[in-house]
Amino acid sequence: MTNKSLISITDFSTEEILRILEIAEDFERHPEPHLLDGKVVATLFFEPSTRTRLSFESAANRLGGRVIGFSDPNISSVSKGETLKDTIRIVSNYCDLIVMRHPLEGSCRYASEVATVPVINAGDGAHQHPTQTLLDMYSIKKTQGRLDNINIFMVGDLKYGRTVHSLVQAMSPFNPIFNFISHPKLKMPKEYLDFLDSKHVKYYEHEQFNDIISEADIIYMTRVQRERFQDLMEYEKTKDLYILRNSMLENTKPTMKILHPLPRVNEIAQDVDQNSKAYYFEQALNGVFARQAVISYVLGLKK
Ligand code: CP
Repeated sequence: MTNKSLISITDFSTEEILRILEIAEDFERHPEPHLLDGKVVATLFFEPSTRTRLSFESAANRLGGRVIGFSDPNISSVSKGETLKDTIRIVSNYCDLIVMRHPLEGSCRYASEVATVPVINAGDGAHQHPTQTLLDMYSIKKTQGRLDNINIFMVGDLKYGRTVHSLVQAMSPFNPIFNFISHPKLKMPKEYLDFLDSKHVKYYEHEQFNDIISEADIIYMTRVQRERFQDLMEYEKTKDLYILRNSMLENTKPTMKILHPLPRVNEIAQDVDQNSKAYYFEQALNGVFARQAVISYVLGLKK
């Protein structure tokens, strides 16, 4: 499929996701520095980012493409009152692909409807972050040797954390077991639990996980998303509830890996970084290969 936007992870079939993971593996093994010769990628970031923007830009540059865009909407004409619709229509004239992050859920879908080039959602509010999911799956496959039958612990802010929303949907065909560990106010939203129920996927909800941590294949830690809280008192009450410490890892599986989409605040103690089970920095590197794969797939340069 060519010129296809990626807004929600469910926009891609399981076969397409598996194909993108294969393409990512090819790029990691055999870089293609001229695949994007003559192509321009626009990165429009209406919200802060380090990994997503820079790994997309690195991915495009390493494939021979050129990058335009902004990392702060205040330096664009959005600050003068230009609408999202006009911004997207104009930028469509200047590029072959738009990568966009925005605080409003649904904004990237809207952008894809007015754009004349494909749009990739680089995170829209608390909704979805599909390319993070592709690099998460790439990391799971690389570290576990498979995607099937993985017991995934998701810990922290499951309500506002968009990465976990995309990941539960994408992993659902692979017979996972999910253990959701959160404060009751930050539980996985009902829409995603209903999705898992409809696919007959097993999941369990907990407030603590010390006594079951030995069952985990993947521990996926998340940051409590301060920027999404209406009431900062609620944030203060929940922000430090789950801190993964090195001492907690003693009875975990030898093959278990710790993932985190990052940025981390303090939900993973610094002493975990030296543990061979910490994989979050390598996971961030995998973002370059996964995003090279997505860019080339949506542009029809890889099939
Ligand atoms: N994982 C992620 O989205 O990180 P950034 O906010 O730094 O892009």
